[in-house]
Amino acid sequence: MSGEPTNEAPVEEVSSMSVEEDDDFVDPWTVASKSATGIDYGKLIKRFGSQKVDDELIQRMEKVTGKPVHHLLRRGIFFSHRDMHLILNLYEQKKPFFLYTGRGPSSEAMHLGHLIPFIFTKWLQETFDVPLVIQLTDDEKFLWKDLTLEEAQRLAIQNTKDIIALGFDVNKTFIFSDLQYIGSCPEFYKNMLRVQKMVTFNQVKGIFGFGDSDCIGKISFPAIQAAPSFSSSFPHIFNGKKDVPCLIPCAIDQDPYFRMTRDVAPRMGCLKPALLHSTFFPALQGAQSKMSASDPNSSIFLTDTDKQIKTKVNKYAFSGGGTTTEEHREKGGNCDVDVSYQYLTFFMEDDERLAQIKKDYTSGELLTGYLKKELIEILQKIVGEHRKRRAEVTDEMVQQFMTPRKLNYQY
Ligand code: TRP
Repeated sequence: MSGEPTNEAPVEEVSSMSVEEDDDFVDPWTVASKSATGIDYGKLIKRFGSQKVDDELIQRMEKVTGKPVHHLLRRGIFFSHRDMHLILNLYEQKKPFFLYTGRGPSSEAMHLGHLIPFIFTKWLQETFDVPLVIQLTDDEKFLWKDLTLEEAQRLAIQNTKDIIALGFDVNKTFIFSDLQYIGSCPEFYKNMLRVQKMVTFNQVKGIFGFGDSDCIGKISFPAIQAAPSFSSSFPHIFNGKKDVPCLIPCAIDQDPYFRMTRDVAPRMGCLKPALLHSTFFPALQGAQSKMSASDPNSSIFLTDTDKQIKTKVNKYAFSGGGTTTEEHREKGGNCDVDVSYQYLTFFMEDDERLAQIKKDYTSGELLTGYLKKELIEILQKIVGEHRKRRAEVTDEMVQQFMTPRKLNYQY
């Protein structure tokens, strides 16, 4: 996969490229947009130097796998990629790759937005039948948040339960906490060091905006998120093989880590990871405001009761409808800013139904109340089922997923 021409800008240049006044700001810690419709994702593709997930790629995926693609791809939620065509070339040649994704465990309760990359990763794993590694960056959260190491570790386990509840196959999935795994695997630590040696302070300043008063833990952390992109970091899975390619599904704000990784990979004699990037899941209050785990009203949490879901959607979901019924009937609703509609695009599987709703809401025939009712039912079902499955996840299951071991693949 390396050596292919791409239009990527060198890592140091990306974030210093002329950013205009009205541009959105996106890095792993800050997502800010001044527009009511949120981030301009087309512009972001240009600035980051990634590729658009276009019809050609989608058609190719369907042809190669013989399956329709997931609605998150069809609806432009996974909208950007790097080297996805190379991954498909390999798949056609029956050469294996592996999936890598992760989560920073900063809070007990995950919200709906946190599920998106995992739901999509699960679909990728089932569609391509490949191994999956999931990194829980308890170390990262210790460095960035006001958390003790013990608390970060505890949250990693709690979040692991939510991830397991999504139904990952234990024979094909390795979940690890940095605090647990790194100390036990010299190969992982070696890759961290190789990355650390190749990236200068100047470069991380350019990519991540670190400054002179950031603690040195932050400055070296990107090497820890980079290391799982290399198959040699998991000798128990890949039997020491260095050249199993990696595909990373993640939200676009994580791209800086992997731009850095792709920059150093060839110099380390490793393959560049491929990526599939998603848009952000909007806060209930609208695409402009940020969802935050500390504001319980900004999102739906996996621990919310049916009643809480109903109240939150009815009370807080930003409406793109008219202010009065008369105005709405006359002018119609605006799906581009309506949060209930946005949430339906993430969670309603039926394409035809969704298209009909969009049409009728836009024309003014459907009122906001109907949209919200529809959404509440879907979310209550998803969260309710999750609640049930989460309760069935035992400590032994957590232990199993987190034990370094061989998976059901031969290398
Ligand atoms: N930094 C990510 C977060 O805060 C967690 C993470 C680690 C991750 N490795 C990843 C996310 C790989 C996506 C892909 O959530």
